[in-house]
Amino acid sequence: MNKTLSISLLAVVFAYTAEAQDAKITIQANQGTNKIKKEIYGQFAEHLGSCIYGGLWVGKNSPIPNTDGYRNDVLQALKELQVPVLRWPGGCFADEYHWRDGIGPTEERPKLQNNNWGGTIEDNSFGTHEFLNLCELIGAEPYISGNVGSGSVQELAQWVEYMTSDANTPMANLRRKNGREKAWNVKYLGIGNESWGCGGNMTPEYYSDLYRRYAIYCRNFGNNQLYKVASGASDYDYTWTKVLMNKIGSRMNGISLHYYTVKTWEGSKGSATIFNDDEYYRTLGKCLEIEDVINKHCAIMDEKDPDKKVDLLVDEWGTWWDEEPGTIRGHLYQQNTMRDAFVAALSLNIFQRHTDRIKMANIAQIVNVLQSMILTDTKGSGHMVLTPTYHIFNMYKPFQESTYLPLETQCGNMKISETLTIPTISTSAAKTADGQIVVSIANIDLQKQQEIEIKTEGYKAKNVIAQILTSKNITDYNDFSHPETIKPTTFKNISIRNGNIKMKIPAKSIVVLRIS
Ligand code: AHR
Repeated sequence: MNKTLSISLLAVVFAYTAEAQDAKITIQANQGTNKIKKEIYGQFAEHLGSCIYGGLWVGKNSPIPNTDGYRNDVLQALKELQVPVLRWPGGCFADEYHWRDGIGPTEERPKLQNNNWGGTIEDNSFGTHEFLNLCELIGAEPYISGNVGSGSVQELAQWVEYMTSDANTPMANLRRKNGREKAWNVKYLGIGNESWGCGGNMTPEYYSDLYRRYAIYCRNFGNNQLYKVASGASDYDYTWTKVLMNKIGSRMNGISLHYYTVKTWEGSKGSATIFNDDEYYRTLGKCLEIEDVINKHCAIMDEKDPDKKVDLLVDEWGTWWDEEPGTIRGHLYQQNTMRDAFVAALSLNIFQRHTDRIKMANIAQIVNVLQSMILTDTKGSGHMVLTPTYHIFNMYKPFQESTYLPLETQCGNMKISETLTIPTISTSAAKTADGQIVVSIANIDLQKQQEIEIKTEGYKAKNVIAQILTSKNITDYNDFSHPETIKPTTFKNISIRNGNIKMKIPAKSIVVLRIS
Protein backbone atom coordinates (compact mmCIF):
# COMPACT_ATOMS: atom_id res chain seq x y z
CA MET A 1 0.00 0.00 0.00
CA ASN A 2 1.63 3.24 -1.01
CA LYS A 3 -1.07 5.79 -0.53
CA THR A 4 -0.90 8.18 2.36
CA LEU A 5 -3.97 8.83 4.42
CA SER A 6 -5.93 11.88 3.35
CA ILE A 7 -4.85 15.30 4.56
CA SER A 8 -8.46 16.10 5.44
CA LEU A 9 -8.65 13.20 7.84
CA LEU A 10 -5.36 14.04 9.45
CA ALA A 11 -6.60 17.58 9.92
CA VAL A 12 -9.08 16.50 12.56
CA VAL A 13 -6.88 13.88 14.16
CA PHE A 14 -3.65 15.01 15.68
CA ALA A 15 -1.19 13.63 18.18
CA TYR A 16 -2.81 14.23 21.53
CA THR A 17 -0.46 14.86 24.38
CA ALA A 18 -2.28 12.79 26.92
CA GLU A 19 -3.25 14.38 30.18
CA ALA A 20 -5.43 12.02 32.16
CA GLN A 21 -6.92 10.48 29.05
CA ASP A 22 -5.75 9.16 25.69
CA ALA A 23 -8.47 10.83 23.67
CA LYS A 24 -11.00 13.59 23.93
CA ILE A 25 -14.19 13.93 21.90
CA THR A 26 -15.99 17.28 21.84
CA ILE A 27 -19.48 17.16 20.36
CA GLN A 28 -21.33 20.31 19.30
CA ALA A 29 -24.71 19.09 20.47
CA ASN A 30 -26.67 22.09 19.19
CA GLN A 31 -25.03 22.57 15.85
CA GLY A 32 -26.42 19.75 13.72
CA THR A 33 -28.08 20.68 10.43
CA ASN A 34 -28.07 17.60 8.21
CA LYS A 35 -30.07 14.41 8.62
CA ILE A 36 -28.21 11.13 8.31
CA LYS A 37 -30.38 9.48 5.68
CA LYS A 38 -31.43 6.03 6.75
CA GLU A 39 -30.52 4.86 3.24
CA ILE A 40 -26.83 5.07 4.26
CA TYR A 41 -27.64 1.75 5.95
CA GLY A 42 -28.74 0.27 2.61
CA GLN A 43 -28.10 -3.24 1.38
CA PHE A 44 -27.38 -4.90 -1.94
CA ALA A 45 -28.63 -8.30 -3.19
CA GLU A 46 -27.29 -9.68 -6.46
CA HIS A 47 -27.94 -12.90 -8.32
CA LEU A 48 -24.50 -14.06 -7.32
CA GLY A 49 -23.53 -17.24 -5.52
CA SER A 50 -25.98 -18.01 -2.73
CA CYS A 51 -27.12 -14.46 -2.03
CA ILE A 52 -30.56 -14.96 -3.55
CA TYR A 53 -30.89 -18.74 -3.95
CA GLY A 54 -30.31 -20.44 -0.58
CA GLY A 55 -29.69 -17.11 1.13
CA LEU A 56 -32.86 -15.08 0.85
CA TRP A 57 -34.99 -17.49 -1.13
CA VAL A 58 -35.47 -21.24 -0.88
CA GLY A 59 -38.82 -21.59 -2.63
CA LYS A 60 -42.14 -22.59 -1.14
CA ASN A 61 -41.49 -26.35 -1.20
CA SER A 62 -38.21 -26.22 0.71
CA PRO A 63 -37.71 -28.16 3.98
CA ILE A 64 -36.19 -24.94 5.30
CA PRO A 65 -38.88 -23.03 7.19
CA ASN A 66 -40.06 -20.25 4.90
CA THR A 67 -42.79 -17.73 4.24
CA ASP A 68 -43.88 -17.91 0.59
CA GLY A 69 -40.36 -19.07 -0.29
CA TYR A 70 -38.36 -16.56 1.81
CA ARG A 71 -36.27 -18.10 4.60
CA ASN A 72 -37.90 -17.34 7.96
CA ASP A 73 -34.60 -17.06 9.85
CA VAL A 74 -33.21 -14.53 7.37
CA LEU A 75 -36.49 -12.61 7.18
CA GLN A 76 -36.56 -12.20 10.93
CA ALA A 77 -32.93 -11.04 11.09
CA LEU A 78 -33.53 -8.50 8.32
CA LYS A 79 -36.67 -7.14 9.94
CA GLU A 80 -34.67 -6.61 13.14
CA LEU A 81 -32.00 -4.76 11.13
CA GLN A 82 -34.50 -2.23 9.70
CA VAL A 83 -33.10 -2.42 6.19
CA PRO A 84 -34.08 0.92 4.61
CA VAL A 85 -33.32 0.13 0.97
CA LEU A 86 -32.35 -2.96 -1.02
CA ARG A 87 -30.56 -2.81 -4.38
CA TRP A 88 -31.28 -5.60 -6.92
CA PRO A 89 -30.66 -7.59 -9.21
CA GLY A 90 -26.98 -6.53 -9.57
CA GLY A 91 -24.18 -5.59 -9.90
CA CYS A 92 -22.79 -6.96 -13.10
CA PHE A 93 -25.73 -9.36 -13.26
CA ALA A 94 -28.12 -6.43 -13.83
CA ASP A 95 -26.74 -5.57 -17.26
CA GLU A 96 -27.48 -9.05 -18.56
CA TYR A 97 -30.82 -9.40 -16.80
CA HIS A 98 -33.97 -9.35 -18.88
CA TRP A 99 -36.87 -8.85 -16.50
CA ARG A 100 -39.41 -10.75 -18.59
CA ASP A 101 -37.42 -13.94 -17.81
CA GLY A 102 -38.44 -13.56 -14.15
CA ILE A 103 -42.23 -13.15 -14.33
CA GLY A 104 -45.14 -15.54 -14.88
CA PRO A 105 -45.43 -19.22 -13.90
CA THR A 106 -42.14 -20.31 -12.33
CA GLU A 107 -41.93 -23.55 -14.30
CA GLU A 108 -42.12 -21.63 -17.58
CA ARG A 109 -39.28 -19.25 -16.75
CA PRO A 110 -36.10 -19.87 -18.74
CA LYS A 111 -33.08 -21.51 -17.15
CA LEU A 112 -30.05 -19.48 -18.16
CA GLN A 113 -26.38 -19.39 -17.38
CA ASN A 114 -25.16 -16.67 -15.03
CA ASN A 115 -22.27 -15.47 -17.20
CA ASN A 116 -20.85 -13.09 -14.64
CA TRP A 117 -20.73 -15.35 -11.65
CA GLY A 118 -19.37 -18.84 -12.16
CA GLY A 119 -21.70 -19.93 -14.96
CA THR A 120 -24.25 -21.16 -12.42
CA ILE A 121 -27.71 -22.01 -13.75
CA GLU A 122 -30.16 -19.22 -13.02
CA ASP A 123 -33.67 -20.61 -13.01
CA ASN A 124 -35.30 -17.18 -12.64
CA SER A 125 -37.58 -18.41 -9.86
CA PHE A 126 -36.74 -15.20 -8.01
CA GLY A 127 -37.87 -12.30 -10.19
CA THR A 128 -39.62 -8.96 -10.01
CA HIS A 129 -42.59 -10.10 -7.90
CA GLU A 130 -40.42 -12.06 -5.50
CA PHE A 131 -38.07 -9.10 -5.03
CA LEU A 132 -40.69 -6.40 -4.60
CA ASN A 133 -42.76 -8.56 -2.26
CA LEU A 134 -39.62 -9.17 -0.17
CA CYS A 135 -39.09 -5.42 0.10
CA GLU A 136 -42.66 -5.03 1.34
CA LEU A 137 -42.17 -7.84 3.87
CA ILE A 138 -39.05 -6.32 5.42
CA GLY A 139 -40.13 -2.69 4.97
CA ALA A 140 -37.28 -1.76 2.61
CA GLU A 141 -37.45 0.66 -0.30
CA PRO A 142 -36.64 -1.17 -3.55
CA TYR A 143 -33.73 0.05 -5.66
CA ILE A 144 -33.91 -1.47 -9.14
CA SER A 145 -30.72 -1.59 -11.14
CA GLY A 146 -31.74 -1.40 -14.81
CA ASN A 147 -30.10 -3.09 -17.77
CA VAL A 148 -28.38 -0.57 -20.02
CA GLY A 149 -25.43 -2.71 -21.12
CA SER A 150 -27.34 -5.39 -23.05
CA GLY A 151 -30.95 -4.23 -22.82
CA SER A 152 -32.98 -1.62 -24.63
CA VAL A 153 -34.68 1.63 -23.73
CA GLN A 154 -38.03 0.01 -24.41
CA GLU A 155 -37.26 -2.92 -22.12
CA LEU A 156 -36.38 -0.71 -19.17
CA ALA A 157 -39.25 1.72 -19.79
CA GLN A 158 -41.70 -1.19 -19.84
CA TRP A 159 -40.24 -2.68 -16.66
CA VAL A 160 -40.93 0.61 -14.88
CA GLU A 161 -44.46 0.58 -16.27
CA TYR A 162 -44.99 -3.06 -15.26
CA MET A 163 -43.97 -2.34 -11.69
CA THR A 164 -45.49 1.08 -11.06
CA SER A 165 -48.47 1.75 -13.35
CA ASP A 166 -52.08 1.32 -12.27
CA ALA A 167 -53.44 2.22 -15.69
CA ASN A 168 -55.35 -0.07 -18.02
CA THR A 169 -52.30 -0.69 -20.23
CA PRO A 170 -50.64 -3.87 -21.50
CA MET A 171 -47.77 -3.75 -18.99
CA ALA A 172 -49.95 -3.09 -15.93
CA ASN A 173 -52.40 -5.75 -17.14
CA LEU A 174 -49.58 -8.25 -17.54
CA ARG A 175 -48.63 -7.63 -13.93
CA ARG A 176 -52.27 -8.16 -12.89
CA LYS A 177 -52.36 -11.40 -14.87
CA ASN A 178 -49.28 -12.50 -12.91
CA GLY A 179 -51.10 -12.02 -9.62
CA ARG A 180 -50.37 -8.47 -8.49
CA GLU A 181 -53.31 -6.10 -8.79
CA LYS A 182 -51.87 -2.96 -7.23
CA ALA A 183 -48.74 -1.30 -8.56
CA TRP A 184 -45.70 -1.29 -6.29
CA ASN A 185 -43.92 1.88 -5.25
CA VAL A 186 -40.46 1.89 -6.75
CA LYS A 187 -38.47 4.99 -6.01
CA TYR A 188 -34.86 4.23 -6.86
CA LEU A 189 -33.92 3.35 -10.42
CA GLY A 190 -30.30 2.77 -11.44
CA ILE A 191 -29.65 3.49 -15.12
CA GLY A 192 -27.00 0.80 -15.59
CA ASN A 193 -24.26 -0.47 -13.28
CA GLU A 194 -20.51 -0.03 -13.69
CA SER A 195 -21.10 1.11 -17.27
CA TRP A 196 -17.34 1.71 -17.53
CA GLY A 197 -16.76 -2.05 -17.02
CA CYS A 198 -19.06 -5.08 -16.81
CA GLY A 199 -22.04 -2.85 -17.60
CA GLY A 200 -21.00 -2.08 -21.17
CA ASN A 201 -17.35 -1.00 -21.20
CA MET A 202 -18.37 2.53 -22.17
CA THR A 203 -16.63 5.88 -22.18
CA PRO A 204 -18.15 8.48 -19.84
CA GLU A 205 -19.22 10.59 -22.84
CA TYR A 206 -21.03 7.68 -24.50
CA TYR A 207 -22.64 6.60 -21.22
CA SER A 208 -23.84 10.16 -20.51
CA ASP A 209 -25.68 10.29 -23.83
CA LEU A 210 -27.19 6.86 -23.19
CA TYR A 211 -28.24 7.89 -19.67
CA ARG A 212 -30.10 10.90 -21.04
CA ARG A 213 -31.91 8.72 -23.56
CA TYR A 214 -32.85 5.96 -21.11
CA ALA A 215 -33.85 8.34 -18.33
CA ILE A 216 -36.35 10.31 -20.37
CA TYR A 217 -38.45 7.22 -21.18
CA CYS A 218 -38.51 5.91 -17.61
CA ARG A 219 -41.64 7.67 -16.54
CA ASN A 220 -43.48 8.51 -13.34
CA PHE A 221 -46.80 6.63 -13.26
CA GLY A 222 -49.55 7.84 -10.90
CA ASN A 223 -47.95 8.96 -7.65
CA ASN A 224 -44.77 7.01 -8.18
CA GLN A 225 -41.84 9.43 -8.44
CA LEU A 226 -38.63 7.88 -9.74
CA TYR A 227 -35.28 8.89 -8.31
CA LYS A 228 -32.80 8.18 -11.09
CA VAL A 229 -29.26 7.11 -10.37
CA ALA A 230 -26.48 7.37 -12.93
CA SER A 231 -23.83 4.68 -12.98
CA GLY A 232 -20.91 6.51 -11.39
CA ALA A 233 -17.23 6.11 -10.94
CA SER A 234 -15.07 3.37 -9.58
CA ASP A 235 -12.71 4.47 -6.82
CA TYR A 236 -10.28 7.05 -8.18
CA ASP A 237 -11.88 7.70 -11.60
CA TYR A 238 -12.52 11.41 -11.17
CA THR A 239 -12.83 11.98 -14.93
CA TRP A 240 -15.96 9.82 -14.97
CA THR A 241 -17.62 12.03 -12.35
CA LYS A 242 -16.52 15.22 -14.10
CA VAL A 243 -17.94 14.16 -17.47
CA LEU A 244 -21.24 12.98 -15.97
CA MET A 245 -21.64 16.18 -13.97
CA ASN A 246 -21.04 18.21 -17.13
CA LYS A 247 -23.13 16.16 -19.53
CA ILE A 248 -25.95 14.88 -17.32
CA GLY A 249 -25.97 17.37 -14.42
CA SER A 250 -29.27 17.63 -12.61
CA ARG A 251 -30.99 15.21 -15.01
CA MET A 252 -29.78 12.64 -12.49
CA ASN A 253 -30.96 12.62 -8.87
CA GLY A 254 -27.90 10.74 -7.78
CA ILE A 255 -24.60 9.46 -9.05
CA SER A 256 -23.11 6.28 -7.67
CA LEU A 257 -19.61 5.49 -6.43
CA HIS A 258 -18.15 2.02 -5.95
CA TYR A 259 -15.27 1.55 -3.52
CA TYR A 260 -14.16 -1.79 -2.12
CA THR A 261 -11.73 -2.28 0.75
CA VAL A 262 -9.57 -4.68 -1.14
CA LYS A 263 -5.97 -5.57 -0.51
CA THR A 264 -3.89 -3.68 -3.05
CA TRP A 265 -0.51 -4.96 -1.97
CA GLU A 266 1.28 -8.30 -2.36
CA GLY A 267 -0.51 -10.69 -4.68
CA SER A 268 -3.97 -12.07 -3.98
CA LYS A 269 -6.79 -10.38 -2.12
CA GLY A 270 -5.86 -12.35 0.98
CA SER A 271 -7.69 -14.58 3.38
CA ALA A 272 -10.75 -13.25 5.18
CA THR A 273 -9.73 -14.98 8.41
CA ILE A 274 -5.96 -15.53 8.37
CA PHE A 275 -4.07 -12.24 8.59
CA ASN A 276 -1.53 -10.56 10.84
CA ASP A 277 -1.70 -7.26 12.73
CA ASP A 278 0.08 -5.39 9.96
CA GLU A 279 -2.47 -6.58 7.40
CA TYR A 280 -5.27 -5.52 9.74
CA TYR A 281 -3.91 -1.99 10.02
CA ARG A 282 -3.23 -1.75 6.28
CA THR A 283 -6.80 -2.86 5.61
CA LEU A 284 -8.10 -0.08 7.81
CA GLY A 285 -5.78 2.33 5.99
CA LYS A 286 -7.35 1.30 2.68
CA CYS A 287 -10.82 1.60 4.22
CA LEU A 288 -10.10 5.11 5.57
CA GLU A 289 -8.79 6.17 2.17
CA ILE A 290 -12.38 6.30 0.94
CA GLU A 291 -12.70 9.66 2.67
CA ASP A 292 -10.12 11.16 0.37
CA VAL A 293 -11.89 9.60 -2.61
CA ILE A 294 -15.25 10.99 -1.44
CA ASN A 295 -13.74 14.45 -0.92
CA LYS A 296 -12.36 14.50 -4.43
CA HIS A 297 -15.60 13.33 -6.09
CA CYS A 298 -17.55 15.81 -3.95
CA ALA A 299 -15.24 18.68 -4.92
CA ILE A 300 -15.99 17.95 -8.59
CA MET A 301 -19.70 17.79 -7.83
CA ASP A 302 -19.56 21.02 -5.80
CA GLU A 303 -18.07 22.90 -8.73
CA LYS A 304 -20.98 22.07 -11.01
CA ASP A 305 -23.68 21.70 -8.38
CA PRO A 306 -23.00 23.99 -5.40
CA ASP A 307 -26.61 23.63 -4.21
CA LYS A 308 -26.12 19.88 -3.87
CA LYS A 309 -29.10 18.88 -6.00
CA VAL A 310 -27.33 15.72 -7.15
CA ASP A 311 -26.65 13.17 -4.41
CA LEU A 312 -23.67 10.86 -4.12
CA LEU A 313 -24.65 7.22 -3.47
CA VAL A 314 -21.94 4.77 -2.48
CA ASP A 315 -24.05 1.94 -3.80
CA GLU A 316 -21.35 -0.73 -3.53
CA TRP A 317 -18.80 -0.85 -0.74
CA GLY A 318 -17.23 -3.29 1.72
CA THR A 319 -14.39 -5.78 2.04
CA TRP A 320 -13.41 -8.15 -0.75
CA TRP A 321 -11.26 -11.14 0.29
CA ASP A 322 -10.30 -14.41 -1.38
CA GLU A 323 -13.22 -16.80 -1.57
CA GLU A 324 -13.38 -19.27 1.31
CA PRO A 325 -11.45 -22.45 0.53
CA GLY A 326 -13.79 -25.23 -0.59
CA THR A 327 -16.51 -22.91 -1.86
CA ILE A 328 -17.62 -22.51 -5.49
CA ARG A 329 -15.36 -20.24 -7.56
CA GLY A 330 -17.06 -17.09 -8.69
CA HIS A 331 -19.55 -17.13 -5.81
CA LEU A 332 -17.61 -14.63 -3.67
CA TYR A 333 -18.44 -16.36 -0.41
CA GLN A 334 -16.24 -15.02 2.38
CA GLN A 335 -16.10 -15.18 6.18
CA ASN A 336 -16.41 -12.04 8.27
CA THR A 337 -14.18 -11.25 11.28
CA MET A 338 -13.83 -8.41 13.76
CA ARG A 339 -11.66 -6.76 11.09
CA ASP A 340 -14.74 -6.55 8.86
CA ALA A 341 -16.69 -5.05 11.76
CA PHE A 342 -14.07 -2.29 11.91
CA VAL A 343 -14.34 -1.65 8.18
CA ALA A 344 -18.12 -1.34 8.60
CA ALA A 345 -17.89 1.01 11.59
CA LEU A 346 -15.19 3.24 10.08
CA SER A 347 -16.98 3.44 6.72
CA LEU A 348 -20.32 4.33 8.32
CA ASN A 349 -18.59 7.01 10.42
CA ILE A 350 -17.14 8.48 7.22
CA PHE A 351 -20.43 8.35 5.27
CA GLN A 352 -22.13 10.14 8.15
CA ARG A 353 -19.49 12.87 8.12
CA HIS A 354 -20.42 13.54 4.46
CA THR A 355 -24.13 13.35 4.97
CA ASP A 356 -24.61 16.69 3.17
CA ARG A 357 -23.85 14.91 -0.13
CA ILE A 358 -24.00 11.17 0.58
CA LYS A 359 -27.64 10.12 0.73
CA MET A 360 -27.32 6.38 0.30
CA ALA A 361 -24.77 3.59 0.68
CA ASN A 362 -25.30 -0.12 -0.05
CA ILE A 363 -22.90 -2.59 1.46
CA ALA A 364 -22.02 -5.54 -0.77
CA GLN A 365 -23.85 -7.80 -0.12
CA ILE A 366 -26.72 -8.76 2.17
CA VAL A 367 -26.32 -12.57 2.44
CA ASN A 368 -23.45 -14.99 1.64
CA VAL A 369 -21.55 -12.67 -0.72
CA LEU A 370 -18.55 -10.43 0.13
CA GLN A 371 -19.02 -8.47 3.38
CA SER A 372 -22.38 -9.92 4.21
CA MET A 373 -24.73 -9.40 7.13
CA ILE A 374 -25.71 -13.05 7.22
CA LEU A 375 -24.22 -16.43 6.29
CA THR A 376 -26.50 -19.36 5.64
CA ASP A 377 -26.41 -23.00 4.64
CA THR A 378 -29.15 -25.20 3.26
CA LYS A 379 -28.30 -28.38 5.13
CA GLY A 380 -31.32 -30.06 6.75
CA SER A 381 -33.63 -27.35 7.95
CA GLY A 382 -30.94 -24.72 7.32
CA HIS A 383 -28.57 -22.75 9.53
CA MET A 384 -27.85 -19.05 9.77
CA VAL A 385 -25.21 -16.93 11.47
CA LEU A 386 -25.14 -13.20 11.97
CA THR A 387 -21.76 -11.72 11.12
CA PRO A 388 -19.87 -9.07 13.12
CA THR A 389 -20.85 -6.67 10.31
CA TYR A 390 -24.53 -7.41 10.99
CA HIS A 391 -23.97 -6.50 14.63
CA ILE A 392 -22.40 -3.16 13.69
CA PHE A 393 -25.36 -2.29 11.47
CA ASN A 394 -27.69 -3.27 14.28
CA MET A 395 -25.81 -1.25 16.90
CA TYR A 396 -25.74 1.78 14.59
CA LYS A 397 -29.51 1.76 13.96
CA PRO A 398 -30.16 4.85 16.15
CA PHE A 399 -28.14 6.90 13.65
CA GLN A 400 -30.75 6.35 10.95
CA GLU A 401 -32.59 9.67 10.33
CA SER A 402 -30.79 11.36 13.25
CA THR A 403 -29.17 14.78 12.86
CA TYR A 404 -25.44 14.62 12.30
CA LEU A 405 -23.48 16.51 14.98
CA PRO A 406 -20.10 18.09 14.28
CA LEU A 407 -17.40 16.80 16.60
CA GLU A 408 -13.70 17.14 17.20
CA THR A 409 -11.67 14.07 18.06
CA GLN A 410 -8.29 14.49 19.67
CA CYS A 411 -6.41 11.21 19.77
CA GLY A 412 -3.12 9.54 19.04
CA ASN A 413 -1.92 8.33 15.68
CA MET A 414 -0.34 4.99 14.82
CA LYS A 415 2.44 4.96 12.27
CA ILE A 416 1.98 1.73 10.33
CA SER A 417 4.53 2.31 7.59
CA GLU A 418 6.48 5.16 5.97
CA THR A 419 3.37 6.15 4.02
CA LEU A 420 0.55 5.13 6.32
CA THR A 421 -0.46 6.70 9.62
CA ILE A 422 -3.90 6.03 11.05
CA PRO A 423 -5.74 7.46 14.04
CA THR A 424 -6.28 5.26 17.08
CA ILE A 425 -9.98 5.99 17.18
CA SER A 426 -12.81 6.71 14.76
CA THR A 427 -15.94 8.52 15.88
CA SER A 428 -19.33 9.84 14.86
CA ALA A 429 -22.20 11.57 16.68
CA ALA A 430 -25.82 12.46 16.02
CA LYS A 431 -28.97 13.68 17.76
CA THR A 432 -32.01 11.41 17.53
CA ALA A 433 -35.55 12.67 16.97
CA ASP A 434 -36.30 12.16 20.67
CA GLY A 435 -33.32 14.29 21.74
CA GLN A 436 -30.78 11.60 22.65
CA ILE A 437 -27.18 11.85 21.54
CA VAL A 438 -25.78 8.77 19.89
CA VAL A 439 -22.02 8.37 19.62
CA SER A 440 -19.95 5.65 17.98
CA ILE A 441 -16.33 5.09 18.97
CA ALA A 442 -14.05 2.49 17.43
CA ASN A 443 -10.76 1.82 19.20
CA ILE A 444 -8.63 0.62 16.30
CA ASP A 445 -5.59 -0.14 18.46
CA LEU A 446 -5.05 -3.89 18.82
CA GLN A 447 -3.06 -3.63 22.05
CA LYS A 448 -4.04 -0.61 24.02
CA GLN A 449 -7.25 0.40 25.77
CA GLN A 450 -8.20 4.06 25.37
CA GLU A 451 -9.26 6.30 28.18
CA ILE A 452 -11.69 8.73 26.58
CA GLU A 453 -13.42 11.88 27.70
CA ILE A 454 -16.57 13.01 25.88
CA LYS A 455 -17.82 16.58 26.16
CA THR A 456 -21.25 17.45 24.81
CA GLU A 457 -21.24 21.22 24.27
CA GLY A 458 -24.68 22.69 24.92
CA TYR A 459 -26.11 19.47 26.32
CA LYS A 460 -26.00 18.22 29.89
CA ALA A 461 -25.54 14.48 29.81
CA LYS A 462 -27.35 12.70 32.66
CA ASN A 463 -27.61 9.10 31.54
CA VAL A 464 -25.67 6.90 29.23
CA ILE A 465 -26.21 3.38 27.99
CA ALA A 466 -23.83 1.60 25.66
CA GLN A 467 -23.18 -1.55 23.70
CA ILE A 468 -19.79 -2.95 22.79
CA LEU A 469 -18.59 -5.31 20.06
CA THR A 470 -15.21 -6.87 20.67
CA SER A 471 -13.46 -10.21 20.71
CA LYS A 472 -10.34 -11.90 22.05
CA ASN A 473 -8.69 -12.00 18.63
CA ILE A 474 -9.14 -9.66 15.68
CA THR A 475 -9.34 -12.78 13.47
CA ASP A 476 -12.35 -14.18 15.37
CA TYR A 477 -15.60 -14.81 13.50
CA ASN A 478 -18.97 -16.52 13.88
CA ASP A 479 -19.69 -19.81 12.12
CA PHE A 480 -22.43 -22.43 12.19
CA SER A 481 -20.75 -24.26 15.09
CA HIS A 482 -19.96 -21.08 17.04
CA PRO A 483 -22.61 -18.54 16.01
CA GLU A 484 -22.07 -16.27 19.02
CA THR A 485 -18.30 -15.89 19.30
CA ILE A 486 -18.84 -12.23 18.49
CA LYS A 487 -22.00 -10.47 19.60
CA PRO A 488 -22.77 -7.11 21.20
CA THR A 489 -22.93 -6.87 24.97
CA THR A 490 -23.77 -4.09 27.39
CA PHE A 491 -20.80 -1.83 28.10
CA LYS A 492 -20.57 -0.54 31.66
CA ASN A 493 -17.15 1.02 32.00
CA ILE A 494 -18.54 4.59 31.75
CA SER A 495 -19.06 7.37 34.27
CA ILE A 496 -20.69 10.81 34.09
CA ARG A 497 -19.50 13.72 36.22
CA ASN A 498 -20.75 17.30 35.72
CA GLY A 499 -22.23 16.28 32.40
CA ASN A 500 -18.91 14.96 31.12
CA ILE A 501 -18.53 11.33 30.18
CA LYS A 502 -15.44 9.26 30.84
CA MET A 503 -14.86 5.74 29.69
CA LYS A 504 -12.19 3.14 29.15
CA ILE A 505 -12.69 1.36 25.89
CA PRO A 506 -10.78 -1.90 25.44
CA ALA A 507 -8.37 -2.52 22.59
CA LYS A 508 -9.99 -3.58 19.25
CA SER A 509 -13.53 -2.74 20.24
CA ILE A 510 -16.41 -0.68 18.91
CA VAL A 511 -18.84 1.05 21.25
CA VAL A 512 -22.12 2.82 20.54
CA LEU A 513 -23.41 5.08 23.33
CA ARG A 514 -26.82 6.61 23.80
CA ILE A 515 -26.69 9.69 25.96
CA SER A 516 -29.74 11.38 27.44
O1 AHR B 1 -20.48 -6.91 -5.73
C1 AHR B 1 -19.84 -7.71 -6.67
C2 AHR B 1 -19.58 -6.99 -7.99
O2 AHR B 1 -18.68 -5.93 -7.78
C3 AHR B 1 -20.77 -6.33 -8.63
O3 AHR B 1 -21.51 -7.20 -9.38
C4 AHR B 1 -20.14 -5.29 -9.50
O4 AHR B 1 -20.98 -4.17 -9.70
C5 AHR B 1 -18.85 -4.95 -8.77
O5 AHR B 1 -17.77 -4.97 -9.62
